[in-house]
Amino acid sequence: MYKHIYFTGFMASGKSRVGRHVAERLKRPFIDTDFLIAEQANKSISEIFEQDGEAAFRKMELEVIEKLATDPEPKVISLGGGALTQASVVKAIRQSGVLIRLWAEPEVLSERISRKNNRPLMAGLDDTQRLEKVKTLLVEREVYYSKADFSVESSNEYPEEHVTERVVRLLHFWEDHVLNVETSSGDRYPIFIGNHLLSRMGILLEGLQLMPSHDFLICTDNAVAKAQSQAISQLRNQSSQSLVFKFRSGEINKNFNSLNQLYTFMLRRHFSRKTCLLQFGGGVVGDMAGFGAATYQRGIPFIQLPTTLLSMVDSSVGGKVAVNHIEGKNMIGAFYQPKAVICDISVLSTLPHQEFLAGLAEIIKYGVIYDAAFFDFIENHVESILNKDPEILKQLIKRSCEIKAEVVGIDEKETGLRAILNYGHTFGHAIEKLTNYQKFSHGIAVSLGMRVAGRVATLLNLWTSQDEERQNNLLNRFGFPTSFNVSAEEAWKAMSIDKKVDKNNRNYILPHKIGFVEKHSNIDEQIINNAWDSIRAKEEL
Ligand SMILES: NC(=O)c1ccc[n+]([C@@H]2O[C@H](COP(=O)([O-])OP(=O)(O)OC[C@H]3O[C@@H](n4cnc5c(N)ncnc54)[C@H](O)[C@@H]3O)[C@@H](O)[C@H]2O)c1
Repeated sequence: MYKHIYFTGFMASGKSRVGRHVAERLKRPFIDTDFLIAEQANKSISEIFEQDGEAAFRKMELEVIEKLATDPEPKVISLGGGALTQASVVKAIRQSGVLIRLWAEPEVLSERISRKNNRPLMAGLDDTQRLEKVKTLLVEREVYYSKADFSVESSNEYPEEHVTERVVRLLHFWEDHVLNVETSSGDRYPIFIGNHLLSRMGILLEGLQLMPSHDFLICTDNAVAKAQSQAISQLRNQSSQSLVFKFRSGEINKNFNSLNQLYTFMLRRHFSRKTCLLQFGGGVVGDMAGFGAATYQRGIPFIQLPTTLLSMVDSSVGGKVAVNHIEGKNMIGAFYQPKAVICDISVLSTLPHQEFLAGLAEIIKYGVIYDAAFFDFIENHVESILNKDPEILKQLIKRSCEIKAEVVGIDEKETGLRAILNYGHTFGHAIEKLTNYQKFSHGIAVSLGMRVAGRVATLLNLWTSQDEERQNNLLNRFGFPTSFNVSAEEAWKAMSIDKKVDKNNRNYILPHKIGFVEKHSNIDEQIINNAWDSIRAKEEL
């Protein structure tokens, strides 16, 4: 997924030396932007600063980087120390490659700087002053270096070949990087989709600077632990033989009682704030352990390792974490973003077919709410999807994550656009509630909810009956249920405790055509009742 490889880091962190080694290993040209700028200006960087000023230098730097970014030949590029202070530089880099930060302890950097004594910023300083200056500058620049996609330590302990090897292994993992989620509050995290990622994810934990500084705890459920025991031992191997906590599986257990068991498990074993939770499970584990991460000792990092199709395309992305309350689903929760999402398609091999369908419902939803071309794609690949063709699955998951990430990026906290993701959910949640979360999994309930919402849209002439039929036909081709019996009163009551339905102003996400939905409110109760009829009648015929 990357094109150029950019290196950033403090002076003497090894950007140029390691950069050259990496370039040699990957048989790519190596470029040092400071060198290129000096060459083009025909004077040294110090001379440019002295004669033309820093602003002129930054302008040249931006021009050089923007030009390199659009160069089709993949390169390894070492950046100057202050390059990331310019937002336009960061943008150009993010659009054109992967950004690696090399780091070392201040003492190591200071000692390396002293060897050559050719850094203007450090001129004339004794050892103590230099170390202090390095520490101060590192703190100041952290905000820029933290923009890197991943970090690699380049301490004196490790020879350059070793550092190069780690960078290359990380880049290998990065080949399965498909996108970054960027939230409106400034959080940013990568999503990976690929095969057998779990067996080599230790390198990513290092690259995200979670290993070796953090302890890990794998959170899963008893069914996943049984079906994916091999994957769990791989995960343990990759995360310092971490302990495993198992929830009891199922929506019925997504509650405070289960969460409290996790807290107790962690507290009794003295897990500190330097713990990272690895959520290995479906949406239930992800939501519950995610809320656990958000609240344990006021918040610890976590990584989503979804094991159901639904959690890959939906619940792992967006940062909503929650548990159910007896009064309603997901009523107690938070917005809390993971450090990364890793979708290892190979774990889907043990997923029961009904659960696979549940994920497909959300995927079809994305087509209906946002992307008519994606809906066409699904229509054209029904067989391959049912045969779990890995390439098609990867495309489905990727596009779904992109859509969710785009929507969440615009509206992280569901004040506007994000509500469109709830298409089918108002009715679906009512169905789940009415069946005590036992009869249908979440996604299947949503598929029924989409049928009801689709009918409301037809009754209101928002879309055509042909559109409704097209949506329902696609659901039928995958074998989704077509009916559910509920009385109007029961349905109305169940919907009224859904938090997506404002008590005094009921909102519904309704389609206007395939690929476009809008929020509607104050819809006549009779129309809603008639729409429920559309899935009730079939069973009674
Ligand atoms: N946070 C969000 O934004 C968001 C979005 C959508 C849904 N959700 C939540 O997600 C939950 C539903 O998630 P789900 O559908 O993944 O359900 P789930 O987590 O209950 O998983 C479904 C079942 O499949 C089993 N399972 C999971 N992976 C398996 C595998 N690889 N092999 C064998 N068995 C496996 C589980 O043990 C469980 O029994 C709901 O609680 C819903 O509220 C949250």
